[in-house]
Amino acid sequence: MWRKKNTESTALLHSNSLQFERRRRSNRLCTKSIGLVLVAVIVCSGVVVCMLQLTLNAANKANTNKHRLNSTAVGRFLHITDMHVDPGYIAGSTTYSQCHRYPPHAAGNDTAGAAIGDGHRHTGRFGIPQAKCDSPIALINATSKHLRSKWGADKLDFVIWTGDSGRHDGDPEQPRTFEQIIAGNSIAVHALRDAFGDSMPIVPNIGNNDISPHNELAAPGHKTARKTFERLSHAWHKFVPDDQLRTFLYGGYFAKDVVDYDSPGSGESTGITALSLNTIYWYRANAKVGGCRAHDSPGLAQLAWIRYQMRRARARNRDLILLGHVLPNRDNYRPTCYHGYARTVTQVVPAPALHRNPADGDNGVPAVHAQLFGHSNVDVWAFVGQEAKWTSSLDPLGLGDQQNGSIGDNRLWWERQVDEETGRFGKLIRNVWEATSFDINNHSLDVGYDDERLWEEMEDDPPVQFTTAGSSAEILPIPEATSNISAPQRLPSDFVETLLKEYKRVLVEGPKNQQNLGVTTISPSIIPKYVPAFRIFHYLRKRPESNKQRWWSLPLGTLLDYDVHWADIAKLNKLKLNPIYEKFFTKLYRFSDVYKIDDLSLDSYLKWAEKLLSSKSLRKKFRSLTYLGT
Ligand SMILES: *[C@@H]1O[C@H](CO)[C@@H](O)[C@H](O)[C@H]1NC(C)=O
Ligand SMILES: *[C@@H]1O[C@H](CO)[C@@H](O)[C@H](O)[C@H]1NC(C)=O
Ligand SMILES: *[C@@H]1O[C@H](CO)[C@@H](O)[C@H](O)[C@H]1NC(C)=O
Ligand SMILES: *[C@@H]1O[C@H](CO)[C@@H](O)[C@H](O)[C@H]1NC(C)=O
Ligand SMILES: *[C@@H]1O[C@H](CO)[C@@H](O)[C@H](O)[C@H]1NC(C)=O
Ligand SMILES: *[C@@H]1O[C@H](CO)[C@@H](O)[C@H](O)[C@H]1NC(C)=O
Repeated sequence: MWRKKNTESTALLHSNSLQFERRRRSNRLCTKSIGLVLVAVIVCSGVVVCMLQLTLNAANKANTNKHRLNSTAVGRFLHITDMHVDPGYIAGSTTYSQCHRYPPHAAGNDTAGAAIGDGHRHTGRFGIPQAKCDSPIALINATSKHLRSKWGADKLDFVIWTGDSGRHDGDPEQPRTFEQIIAGNSIAVHALRDAFGDSMPIVPNIGNNDISPHNELAAPGHKTARKTFERLSHAWHKFVPDDQLRTFLYGGYFAKDVVDYDSPGSGESTGITALSLNTIYWYRANAKVGGCRAHDSPGLAQLAWIRYQMRRARARNRDLILLGHVLPNRDNYRPTCYHGYARTVTQVVPAPALHRNPADGDNGVPAVHAQLFGHSNVDVWAFVGQEAKWTSSLDPLGLGDQQNGSIGDNRLWWERQVDEETGRFGKLIRNVWEATSFDINNHSLDVGYDDERLWEEMEDDPPVQFTTAGSSAEILPIPEATSNISAPQRLPSDFVETLLKEYKRVLVEGPKNQQNLGVTTISPSIIPKYVPAFRIFHYLRKRPESNKQRWWSLPLGTLLDYDVHWADIAKLNKLKLNPIYEKFFTKLYRFSDVYKIDDLSLDSYLKWAEKLLSSKSLRKKFRSLTYLGT
């Protein structure tokens, strides 16, 4: 049974929802018509830019969720990302030295920082917005102190941390080493431990700057990959659960239970398991592995692992949150991997529960309540799903299946292997993913790993020379030489139109292409590329006491809202004394205030997109919000 549906819908959306439901229930899902849709909605290009405007807008309106979010039914978690810790950061240095050296004339030899002098940008104690520098340790320490004093373990249930804690490799005079990446990760771990203590579930993730050289990660079993995973798991001390170490050392991904719901009713899910994904195996910029079509593709193995985890979640009656570093979309992922990701996470062909756990109380497919990413340093959301035009030539996974006459069974060959625990993936399940005890130093367990292979042997999609922007966010150029954080960002002039077209396709092209959709979001980052920021999510952790409450009908685990908190470091840099850490970050805006939606369910996002498309005045507002004054 499809239990994750929000019953409150407009007429159009309601019919779409019914379509979703029907399609999900049906075993005759049309795998031929799989395609991908990505709507990258740049809500704000850089939180900073539009913050002031949004707060002004919001101030004029009732804060619709303010009181409801104060209910005991609501839980909270932190999404923090892209810390990019740089111990070599020097306050008062130049940005063109990546904040590593003072200007030639030493005008800025001033550890109080902050001063903007004679054409040089002398950087401040807590970092500098809109420059290429990374985060000073002072910023990481202040973030930690803020999280401890304002939030702490009693106000949050868990922490999602989507990678890139190493510094960038942008200073030719100080090439980055892997040791520095590990050091950055260790500093980040200490900061989070200091803030939340030992019992808080913290879920780390591998970013493209947590490996060396950046973006290059060899296939599982290769000694450099093994070393990378081993060193990171040490640096993340205990964040990867012991029973997942073997999986992590194999592929760089792992599962972790993050919360049990308060008193779930019978037939309800019991809690949330987070899947920390290694997006580098799908990332186009990683030339060490190919796409997701070859039988021995590491990217495909990870898709198989997700499917296996969905079987586990179903058997254990738990919901999922997926997290990763690089946002899944057409630009970022190899086509076969993006396609496979969309297909798998939207459960086009649902995975059965593990048969060794009898399915008492099996409520159907596990809900994926959130897909959270980092990397792009902005505040963005997008749909991930299927699109008609991807059906044939761009659908190698699907074609492979058809060739084997899979009549009456819409699973692809590898999905069958996962479900039936046969073949290569059956072997991986038994030897790696299901192996619960593992001594990290026991190299005799290497028997369970693939032989080392040359990556060329598993190449299928041609390697892509990654010359263009790495993400939708990076198509938004940052004005290089300004420290004025309220300066408007410039967006491509047709950007909003493209966005609206993508929305329209999702909403209007017809239910045929909407059968399975999800929502992915990127949170803003700690690195001061725009300004340091993080998100606090609110979600339904407990059934509300009164069935009059609006959230009564939502499944437990549904995301309800989020707040973006930012640090005005330009101002904080000017302080002579230490800041008041509790106020180091302040709330910039609440998502529901901007979008006027009830919650963060798929139906609400669809409703919002529909509202936008049907209202000229809303589009105008959307444009002005998106362009922010340009
Ligand atoms: C939230 O609830 C607490 C405890 O019931 C109360 O002290 C606080 O003022 C409430 N906050 C808001 C914003 O309503
Ligand atoms: C900065 O100034 C201090 C004291 O004036 C001096 O000792 C130091 O060498 C200077 N550093 C640089 C890089 O100029
Ligand atoms: C940051 O915190 C660590 C650990 O508390 C401390 O040793 C270090 O001196 C701090 N550094 C700065 C720059 O605040
Ligand atoms: C089709 O699948 C069956 C069983 O899964 C397998 O034995 C057979 O070799 C496959 N045929 C082709 C052409 O791939
Ligand atoms: C290492 O793994 C092997 C194979 O599973 C096992 O027999 C052995 O007891 C393990 N050794 C340690 C120290 O855990
Ligand atoms: C910053 O922006 C404001 C408003 O656009 C402008 O008045 C001010 O002069 C700018 N400051 C700098 C330093 O560019």
